Amino acid sequence: MEQSLPYDNRIDSESSDQVVNPWEVSAKDGGKIDYDKLIDKFGCKRLDESLIDRVERLTGRQPHKFLRRGVFFAHRDFNEILDAYESGERFYLYTGRGPSSEALHLGHLIPFMFTKYLQEAFKVPLVIQLTDDEKFMWKNLTVEESERLARENARDIIACGFDVTKTFIFSDFDHVGGAFYKNMVKVSKCVTLNKAKGIFGFSGEDHIGKLSFPAVQAAPSFPSSFPHLFPGMDKLRCLIPCAIDQDPYFRMTRDVAPRLGYSKPALIESSFFPALQASGENGKMSASDPNSAIYVTDTAKDIKNKINKAKSGGHQFSVDQHELGADLEKDIPFKYLSVFLEDDSELELIRKQYGEKEGIMQTGHVKKRVTEVLTEIVERHRRARAAVTDEMVEAFMAVRPLPSMFE
Ligand code: TRP
Repeated sequence: MEQSLPYDNRIDSESSDQVVNPWEVSAKDGGKIDYDKLIDKFGCKRLDESLIDRVERLTGRQPHKFLRRGVFFAHRDFNEILDAYESGERFYLYTGRGPSSEALHLGHLIPFMFTKYLQEAFKVPLVIQLTDDEKFMWKNLTVEESERLARENARDIIACGFDVTKTFIFSDFDHVGGAFYKNMVKVSKCVTLNKAKGIFGFSGEDHIGKLSFPAVQAAPSFPSSFPHLFPGMDKLRCLIPCAIDQDPYFRMTRDVAPRLGYSKPALIESSFFPALQASGENGKMSASDPNSAIYVTDTAKDIKNKINKAKSGGHQFSVDQHELGADLEKDIPFKYLSVFLEDDSELELIRKQYGEKEGIMQTGHVKKRVTEVLTEIVERHRRARAAVTDEMVEAFMAVRPLPSMFE
């Protein structure tokens, strides 16, 4: 039932337990991901109320709904970033996208929407890595097609509203070299094949391109990889917002950082966005099934149809619905609302009137409301994307200093 990122390689599937790595996300018996277990296994920490309160105090604004609702739920050293920030130190943000398809769905936008909020709230610079090389190596794509997709995806990312005076977007094919490459080889030299096998599940059958890639994703965690942005700022801390399946890359990065004399990047990690309905025998979302997700290219009518067909936890007959209340854990329209509806009090009202016994709300109401909310988001995104010109893409991707990046 959980949606994986669009990778097609299946490694590390040896156990019957849940599998979460950058290439595969699948729950035990097609059920739900056990996030507590994942936190234990990975060794990250739960993002608790006290940290969220601290974000509110330090930024002087309401924490983003993805924090209030637990979409971003785990971290590594986020408390240290906040300590440093409190004492007047600054940091930079690093996130990325593997450009494997033209059409992004709402789940793909979540990390970018959240990163935009972090950039605004903390007034910090941001680097965004487009891993066209990664997708070339893992998917059946040519170099040229991966490059094209990177630029197309850059438009969607820019449409999320990033500030061009504080944001550098780069593709690996363009940017690997110089100081960036020096950090890559330093990282590579610290990681044995055995270690990489342990972290990523690589086997003797995998081509060596795959083995070389984790160092590419690690390099942007170090400010010295960007001499045009952070000259003489080798101690600048890095905070990485990402989905939790990216954790293995950064576990490796954090492991090698002290040996290179660098600080470990901090992480703030999200759960996965659920698919609209169970499709396929194990209930896992299929990336190729257009009905399993809302795409930013969907029309209002598409959204309405998809939501109407989405898996509901409500009861078919209003007497049952009234007596029992909906099973919100199984209700996809409600889950989508709880991620994207801005207003906490409206969400609470729906939770009560729809989910509790004797409630008066029917599935139809919830579906109608979530359709409105998602249609608005998708239409806003479409307008914003249409306004992104080639010149804007060039501007975000130009190698240049960002003089007012901390203002
Ligand atoms: N590997 C990621 C993907 O396929 C892309 C990525 C690169 C990334 N660097 C990152 C994601 C940093 C989050 C944070 O989507």
